[in-house]
Amino acid sequence: MYNFKISSVVNDYDVSFVDTFSTILTEILLEGDVIIIDSKVRKLYSKQLDTILAQVKHIIIDANEKQKSYQGLIPIIEELINGGFRKNHRLIAIGGGITQDITAFISSIMYRGVDWIFFPTTLLAQGDSCIGSKTSINFGEFKNQVGGFYPPRHIFIDLLFLETLSDLDLKSGLGEMCHYFIVAGKDDFNRYKNEYLLALKDKKILSGIINRSLEIKKGYIEVDEFDKNIRQVFNYGHSFGHAIESLTDYRIPHGIAVSYGMDMANFISVKLGYITEDIRNEIRELLEKIWQGTNLDDISLDRFKTALSKDKKNVGTELRLILNKGYGEIFKKAMTMDDQFSQWLDEYFANELKNK
Ligand SMILES: NC(=O)c1ccc[n+]([C@@H]2O[C@H](COP(=O)([O-])OP(=O)(O)OC[C@H]3O[C@@H](n4cnc5c(N)ncnc54)[C@H](O)[C@@H]3O)[C@@H](O)[C@H]2O)c1
Ligand SMILES: [Zn+2]
Repeated sequence: MYNFKISSVVNDYDVSFVDTFSTILTEILLEGDVIIIDSKVRKLYSKQLDTILAQVKHIIIDANEKQKSYQGLIPIIEELINGGFRKNHRLIAIGGGITQDITAFISSIMYRGVDWIFFPTTLLAQGDSCIGSKTSINFGEFKNQVGGFYPPRHIFIDLLFLETLSDLDLKSGLGEMCHYFIVAGKDDFNRYKNEYLLALKDKKILSGIINRSLEIKKGYIEVDEFDKNIRQVFNYGHSFGHAIESLTDYRIPHGIAVSYGMDMANFISVKLGYITEDIRNEIRELLEKIWQGTNLDDISLDRFKTALSKDKKNVGTELRLILNKGYGEIFKKAMTMDDQFSQWLDEYFANELKNK
């Protein structure tokens, strides 16, 4: 299995693929550690967790976007302080991206920073969010508005967790990983296109694409950890995706929203003459299999345009979109929400949301 190190301005950290998370968890636990665990995972893996949790302080949370807010964090912080948690103690997160963001954010502010360790349990968290040190919480109705960069000390990836994941969450992970393979180039895209559906049935293939996804991301975050420069290409699909997530009240999970978002970015890229319709269709064939079974019927186009123009990456009134000039040639472009752009969005919503 794979092991590698990520260098970070905050602290370097390790990623290890492991066979039995419960054995590792037992081995690494130190006096004073507190586990923050997703309630679903707590129930589903009670066989492996009961004995451990009987002896270790733990806080069970519901993984929803409301929990990932200031208000949601207050009872957790209260419980930590009242329970005697100290600066030399560590938090251990077991869950998906929401549990990660909550634990990372609390770790970054508790006593000006405590160490944390992560056992990602969703495909999205294993194949993407576990590395890169981003940590944000939502504010009001807007997502990921408040946060910083605060990586864990160690990430332990056990593919066992994926066996209980819903089809929708598996596809969300596949959608999220896909953007790394398009950014990386044609060879990686071809590999992904051949392997991504097989991966759901074959753990060896799955661990291979998770590892490659993290490897591609590592190449960028080690150079531009704070997202000032080259890392921004990974916002491909995300401006549109975030608008979809918030307007559907998170009914569409992140990685599926990003799949729609990549197709929207490709549609605009065709309109601007950056890629051919053929390239767009080649990518869309894969994306359609990811978003299959979902729809954007409840999204009002006006609200979608407003949400896009409020994207936190925008500068002044200009949108900052990530567009496509071909595999391996994803780039940032400033655009305005003018009549032309608005008309392209009308056209997309009118004609492009049915499977081809
Ligand atoms: N910090 C980052 O770099 C980063 C990157 C991408 C996404 N995110 C954030 O991550 C969140 C999405 O992450 P996610 O998709 O992992 O979401 P999640 O944590 O909400 O998990 C999705 C669902 O799967 C359930 N679940 C978790 N593990 C399970 C398992 N093993 N078996 C069955 N069910 C399980 C959860 O209870 C939840 O219902 C969003 O809030 C997004 O903003 C953060
Ligand atoms: Zn994402």
